[in-house]
Amino acid sequence: MPEDIESVEEVIRTGWVVQGPKVREFESMWSEFTGSKHAIAVSSCTTALHLALIAAGIKRGDEVIVPSFTWIATANAVEYTGAKPVFCDIDPDTYNINPEKVEQRVTEKTRAIMPVHLFGLQADVDKINGIAEAKGIKIIEDAACGFGAYKSGVHSGLKGDFGCFSFHPRKAITTGEGGMIVTQNDDDAALLRSLRDHGAEVKVEGKGKPYLLPDFKILGYNYRLTDIQAALGIMQMKRAGEIIKKRRELASRYDEALKADRRLVVPICPDGYEHGYQSYVCLFRPEEINSGNADEINIQRNEFMQYLSDNGIATRPGTHAVHLQEYYSTKYNLKPEDFRNSYIAEKCTLALPLFPGMTDNEFNYVVDKIKRYKT
Ligand SMILES: Cc1ncc(COP(=O)(O)O)c(C=O)c1O
Repeated sequence: MPEDIESVEEVIRTGWVVQGPKVREFESMWSEFTGSKHAIAVSSCTTALHLALIAAGIKRGDEVIVPSFTWIATANAVEYTGAKPVFCDIDPDTYNINPEKVEQRVTEKTRAIMPVHLFGLQADVDKINGIAEAKGIKIIEDAACGFGAYKSGVHSGLKGDFGCFSFHPRKAITTGEGGMIVTQNDDDAALLRSLRDHGAEVKVEGKGKPYLLPDFKILGYNYRLTDIQAALGIMQMKRAGEIIKKRRELASRYDEALKADRRLVVPICPDGYEHGYQSYVCLFRPEEINSGNADEINIQRNEFMQYLSDNGIATRPGTHAVHLQEYYSTKYNLKPEDFRNSYIAEKCTLALPLFPGMTDNEFNYVVDKIKRYKT
């Protein structure tokens, strides 16, 4: 959009390009939109997760429960702290972490649980809170995909101790790279603001001597967002309602167009939930999948994706079964069948194109090509 480009130009002209007024404005728009008391902008969701884990006090020797079907950054952030990511299988219908299985994975070393709101559908944080609260376990919501995802009217990121969002280009709001942490706790917010800025003591606006360097009492990082990125984020947040509406409209058109196609299961949205549709992820050949043939279905899914690609239609697998990635399978001696639903989801899902600028022609073309696929 031309106005987005102008807003970036304006930042460059002012010369204040990092952690300045645009970052503050973006943070307050995010607070207002989600309904959170604090919003702290950082350089990515991965760095948001890392800082939230530090602020939650996670350290070497601790265990943190994460879903086995998610982007690898969820588990990587735990590794950065020296703690152990303890994988947990998903509910095959929602692709989100299964709270009953979470309960089975809790040990005396569990210090945090990281539910992921995958593809824009909230995980069941209420149930997970029920498991965590009594044991003093922290909840860090990986809401990388959670923009516009509501349950009972509450936006994602608000029910845990921390909620972490991504502004990577595959997300509904993008600043190139970028992330945001939300929290309701004043002390945690102050700590996060310091951690993202090398551990600098946070200045109270209008107080102190701005010409002096800050003190550093804790070990921090350079995880700051730039004003150039924040300017882009602000422009999109002005259109937030429109962006969500358009994504939901496209999703419901796909639901309608594909409902009779038995080769695909479209995403579900249980009662009480509102889906943000960061991605529109379908399960391929659901009627043929059984506990032992995910690799065979995977070959067929890839043929289908190749056919779509040959016709100019870009698709992607839903996401990874992280326990299958070599770093994790080797380090923790994990096998595909340890988390079977995640394994099947990695092998048999695909995300169809969905973006607010998608035209009717583009949409109809995709649906037409899917319908014409001969198997
Ligand atoms: C579930 C999940 N967690 C974390 C991340 C990491 O986000 P970022 O790329 O902003 O670091 C992503 C990004 O794709 C994600 O999908």
